[in-house]
Amino acid sequence: MTRLHEVPALRAWRHAQWQEKRRVALVPTMGNLHRGHLALLDSAREHADVLIASIFVNPLQFGPNEDFDRYPRTLEADVAALEAAGCHAVFAPSERTLYPHGRDIAQIHVPHLGDHLCGADRPGHFDGVTTVVGLLFHLVQPDVAVFGRKDYQQLQLIRRMVRDLHFPTQVIGHPIEREADGLALSSRNQYLSAEERARAPALHVTLRAIAEALSGGKRDTAALEADAMERLRAAGLVPSYVRILSADLQEPEFPGEILIAAAAYLGQTRLIDNLMVHV
Ligand code: PAF
Repeated sequence: MTRLHEVPALRAWRHAQWQEKRRVALVPTMGNLHRGHLALLDSAREHADVLIASIFVNPLQFGPNEDFDRYPRTLEADVAALEAAGCHAVFAPSERTLYPHGRDIAQIHVPHLGDHLCGADRPGHFDGVTTVVGLLFHLVQPDVAVFGRKDYQQLQLIRRMVRDLHFPTQVIGHPIEREADGLALSSRNQYLSAEERARAPALHVTLRAIAEALSGGKRDTAALEADAMERLRAAGLVPSYVRILSADLQEPEFPGEILIAAAAYLGQTRLIDNLMVHV
């Protein structure tokens, strides 16, 4: 596997792929790779000849009181995992390489879509995400890029950015990978104490209860959301939101593809999850 840390080396690698007429798939990550990230490579493989993953803990998408400093950085283990999974290249720039002029730089802002849900809780977060993903797309020029659907709102924002800015990149959303008890895989799960870990599946269980209620014909979404918030509190979580929306993050229309999304804190750890149902 080719290790790339600097922009000129990345550009040379990309140029070689063009010369060989190979389709390139990018899997952007912040490292600390788990089974969920490696599954993104499986989707990528279906759409391209060569796979490149990026590893960069992006300071622009963390708020001042968030976990940027303690976010787990495990580069050597990540590189070994990518190599074992058959990834062809990894781009792991330093902050100085990616942002040589500091953090106060031009940003990509996608209007409206990021104003609610996680965007309301984490001001500036999605500007940081779209800026780094736009920058990675600009540098890597991928034919395809794969993102997990756990970060559903992020995926929608990236699709909008790609549409609006004419990026020649096909964006693919990979299904959520879960633990046996339903907890969505996340690098942040390792922050949970044993007691918090035992409570964490309540998030998924609550989303499933809403899905069942919708499938059973219930349509009072405000009441379902309020019940779910109560249920999460009773399970010892501190919910930020539970929302029932259309797949494009608008008010839901029935019948249709419905997104049920939630975010909740367990101690200092913020967990998110979502389900799609057709009702
Ligand atoms: O989903 C993530 O891990 C990050 O938000 C991403 C897309 C790699 C951008 O830093």
